[in-house]
Amino acid sequence: MSDTLINIADLNVSFGDAHILRDVDLRLERGRTVGIVGESGSGKSTLAKAMVGTVKPSSGELWVAGLDVRSATRRELARYRRSVQMIPQDPFSSLSPRQTVGQTLAEAVDPRRARVAHHTDLIAHWLERVGLDADMIHRYPHEFSGGQRQRIALARGLIVEPELVIADEITSALDVSVQSQILDLLDEIRQSLGLTMAFISHNLAVVQRVSDDVMVLYQGQVVEAGPVAQIYSDPQHWYTRRLLAADPGSPTFSIG
Ligand SMILES: Nc1ncnc2c1ncn2[C@@H]1O[C@H](COP(=O)(O)OP(=O)(O)O)[C@@H](O)[C@H]1O
Ligand SMILES: [Mg+2]
Repeated sequence: MSDTLINIADLNVSFGDAHILRDVDLRLERGRTVGIVGESGSGKSTLAKAMVGTVKPSSGELWVAGLDVRSATRRELARYRRSVQMIPQDPFSSLSPRQTVGQTLAEAVDPRRARVAHHTDLIAHWLERVGLDADMIHRYPHEFSGGQRQRIALARGLIVEPELVIADEITSALDVSVQSQILDLLDEIRQSLGLTMAFISHNLAVVQRVSDDVMVLYQGQVVEAGPVAQIYSDPQHWYTRRLLAADPGSPTFSIG
C-alpha cells in the first residue's frame, strides 16, 4: 500500500473562460502537512474545493485517500467527504448559532441522530484536546471568542478522525496573538496525531509554522514546491522571495 495520500497531476480548473488552476501538481505523503501559499486570488481555495470534490476540474489527475475524486460516484463522494475534513476560514459563520457546541460535535459524529448524551465522553475529550473546557459542551457559539470558535471548528473536523484535514485560511480572521495560539495548537496536534493536512494561507510565515512541505501558487500555477526548510533558506522563484520579504510580524487582514 502506498503512503501517498494526495496525488494531483496536471490539474486544470476553469470557470467559464477564466483559467483558474493550470497544470497543478501536488503529492503528499501520509502524516505530512503541505502548506499552500499564494496571494488572494491565486487559486488556493479553488484547489481545496477540487480536492473535496465540489469544484470539477477540466483535466488532470486527482487522487485523494485512494479515491479517484474526478470519477467517484455520489455514494463514494458522500463517504469521502467524511474522511476529508475542511476547516473553514470564518469562525463566526461556520458554526450554527442555534446549536450548542455539543450538538455541533454530536452532529459531526452522527449526522442522522446527533444525540449529545450518546457522545458526551468523546465530545469532552475533543473539547479538552483543543484547549477548551469539557463543561463548555452546553454553550452556544456567541458565548465564545473568535479563537475559541476556531478551536471548536477544529474539534468538529478532528472528531471524525479524518484521513486528511484541509485548513483554508483558518487564522486569517484572528488577531495576531490569537493566531499564534491557534498555530501552536495546530502544530502540536498535527505532530502528536500524525495528521495529514493541507494548510492554506496567504502568509508564508504562518505556513512555515505548521508545514513540512510548501507549495507556492501564483496566478493558478505552482511556481515553487519543496520541503519547508529549503523554500525558506533558498527560494528560487522571485514570487517566493517577494512573499518572504513581506513582514512576517505585521498583521494582515486580507481575506484570501
Ligand atoms: N465560482 C467561481 N466562479 C468564477 N470565478 C471564481 C469562482 N471561485 C473563484 N473564482 C476566481 O478564481 C480565482 C481564484 O480564487 P480562489 O481560489 O478563491 O483564490 P484564493 O483562495 O487563493 O484567494 C479568483 O480570481 C476568483 O475570482
Ligand atoms: Mg481562499
